[in-house]
Amino acid sequence: MPDVGMHEQSVVESARSLFYERALVQFEGAWVGAIAAIPLPTGNLQASIPPTDLNYGEIFIRDNVPVMAYLLTQEKYSAVRHFLETCLRLQSDQPQTRGIFPTSFVEVDGRLVADYGQRAIGRVASVDATLWWAILAHAYVQKSDDRAFACQPDVQAGIQRFLDLVLHPSFRAAPTLHVPDGAFMIDRPLDVWGAPLEIQVLLYGSLLSAAGLMKMAIDASNSQYLIDRLQQTLDHAKRLHAYLLQHYWVTDRTVQRMRRYPTEQYGEAIENEHNIQPEAIPDWVQNWLGDRSGYLIGNVRTGRPDFRFFTLGNSLGAIFDVLDCDQQRDLFRLIVHNQKDLVAQMPLRICHPPLEGKEWQFQSGYDRKNWPGCYHNGGHWPCLTWFLAAAVLRQPDRSVETANFLESSYQMLLSQLPEQNWAEYFDGSTARWVGQQARLYQTWTIVGFLLMHHLLKVNPADAGILNVPRLQDFC
Ligand code: GLC
Repeated sequence: MPDVGMHEQSVVESARSLFYERALVQFEGAWVGAIAAIPLPTGNLQASIPPTDLNYGEIFIRDNVPVMAYLLTQEKYSAVRHFLETCLRLQSDQPQTRGIFPTSFVEVDGRLVADYGQRAIGRVASVDATLWWAILAHAYVQKSDDRAFACQPDVQAGIQRFLDLVLHPSFRAAPTLHVPDGAFMIDRPLDVWGAPLEIQVLLYGSLLSAAGLMKMAIDASNSQYLIDRLQQTLDHAKRLHAYLLQHYWVTDRTVQRMRRYPTEQYGEAIENEHNIQPEAIPDWVQNWLGDRSGYLIGNVRTGRPDFRFFTLGNSLGAIFDVLDCDQQRDLFRLIVHNQKDLVAQMPLRICHPPLEGKEWQFQSGYDRKNWPGCYHNGGHWPCLTWFLAAAVLRQPDRSVETANFLESSYQMLLSQLPEQNWAEYFDGSTARWVGQQARLYQTWTIVGFLLMHHLLKVNPADAGILNVPRLQDFC
């Protein structure tokens, strides 16, 4: 019988060497981040895909979130700082996009070339990268204790340019950030325009991270400008928090109330602010919610709420404490209750349920990559598992069911990923099939596994790696 511990150790070793030796790249003589997927030698399974495969040879900010989190747990602080500073150099200074960070960048002949959406497939906008930068910068300072970095004038100026994108007058009074379709990990049309959950929780995390970083500079300089800006940022975060709980958080009880909402209401103090018709609440929600559970719905728009469950948005809602401890427990209960849909044979499904039929045709524009049950449209992405593990493990206690859920998810990754060549995603309701257009040796699959191993088997205390300051910390 093979020794289980030895198998685990050899998988971890091979993941580590793929990551350090093949995925991480250098710029100006030091590690600057990791490419999205490791190119395969010709003659391998995916030989039809050349080494310069679309943009998978670029350094994506979102794909580098787990990379930076992992490097922080390994105390490789200078690499993380180099990544953050390089991204900062690439923050846009163009009049129309001033303050945004690129989705990805790559070195060409000693020069950095960045993609702000002007090269992306479908020209989608890069929004999540901008929100992630502040969160990663805060995570770096928190773990390394390099407060001098936070106080650097260029870092503070970068934060202000980012805040300018959010704290300005607009046509809407709602505190949510309005974005076009495909502005985050789901970077193709999938009816995720408007106020998608992932963007809103990232906005919340980034405002609090920016506030934390400004506070450090205020402690060092006492600048009145920063004091006012901090207040403005916290006011916005507070409004956003209340809005998310009021409009996105659903439980059996809140849905029952919604079903009885009066419609066509006008005026300020009304119940049904978004004029939601009871028929807009899909049937599957009842079984999905079960008993004593809750989750943040995918999107809130006038008359068209999106009840789909998005795994990353919900995990981040827990990690950034948009949800309180009881709500987080309700969320984890919901995930365990729905593990047949969310895990099946590979954790974790990116969203549920998939868009099908006419809805898929119309909303995705017949996007074959996003066929029902595939890729972003209900595909299973192993890279998401560690976010949920971090959310669960940062809480002081957890139910036996939740702990078992994490352990069995880890065992699935351990037993299948090396054999499936660290594929990017898996298709179908059972997730048995490697994604039809999946890259192999995808970096965030490899690092996501390493983080799962680290959090479950080495140091669960690192589950707080993406913690952001809490609103109460500023009182
Ligand atoms: C795909 C994914 C996107 C990811 C990129 C690089 O475009 O949709 O989320 O960042 O690949 O891995």
